[in-house]
Amino acid sequence: MTQDELKQAVAKAAIEHIPADCYVGVGTGSTANYFIDELAKIKHKIRGAVASSEASAKRLRGHGIEVVTLNESGDLPVYVDGADEITRHMHMVKGGGGALTREKVVAAASKKFVCVCDASKLVDVLGKFPLPIEVIPMARSFVAREVVKLGGQPALREGFTTDNGNLILDVHGWDILNPVELETTLDHIAGIVTNGLFARRPADVLLLGTADGVKTMTA
Ligand code: A5P
Repeated sequence: MTQDELKQAVAKAAIEHIPADCYVGVGTGSTANYFIDELAKIKHKIRGAVASSEASAKRLRGHGIEVVTLNESGDLPVYVDGADEITRHMHMVKGGGGALTREKVVAAASKKFVCVCDASKLVDVLGKFPLPIEVIPMARSFVAREVVKLGGQPALREGFTTDNGNLILDVHGWDILNPVELETTLDHIAGIVTNGLFARRPADVLLLGTADGVKTMTA
C-alpha cells in the first residue's frame, strides 16, 4: 500500500469514532483532508464541524459541511487530526502544516482526540521532525535565542504566515525525552504563542495505517 492509501484507510476508520448529531473537531493536513472527504459521506448524520485551519474550513465547506466556530459549538465530543510524529505514549509533534495553535485549542476542547497516521509517524523518541513553534513576529529573535539556550537549532519557516498572522520557528536538533517538561518550559517563554508538542493533552486513540491494516492503539 502507498502512504496515501494508508492515510485513506485510517481516515475511513476514524468515521467509526464519530457520534451522531454532533459537531466534529477537524484537524489539518493531508491525512485530515482524507478524513474530511470521508466525513462528507456521513454529513447528514452530523451537525457540522469546527476546523483547526482556514484550509480545512474551506475543504469542509466545499463538501457542503457546515463550519461553525468553537465559540458557537462549545466543547466537542471528538477531534480527529494527524501528527508529524507520535509515540506509544500518544505524545505528538504537530504543526508541520503550521496550524498548531488552533489544533491545540480544538484538541483541548474535545473529549476524545483520535489521531490518524500512517506507520511512518510512529517513533520511539520525538524530535527528528523539527518542532514547530508559533511566535509573534516581534518576538522572533528573542524566542530563537531562548531556544538556542535550551539546545535547539531554530530555523524561520521562510515565506510562511500562520492563520493567526504569526511566524513559525522550526526547531532542529532536539531528542525530546521528556515531552511534557519541554512543552511546559516552552509555554513559559514570552512571545511563544504555541509549541507543537502535544504531550500534556495527548491523543486518546491512535489509528495507525500499516501494511497489515489499521491498528488501534491507546496509551
Ligand atoms: C498541521 O499543522 C499538522 O499538525 C498536521 O496534523 C501534521 O502536519 C500531519 O500532517 P499530514 O497528515 O499531512 O502528515
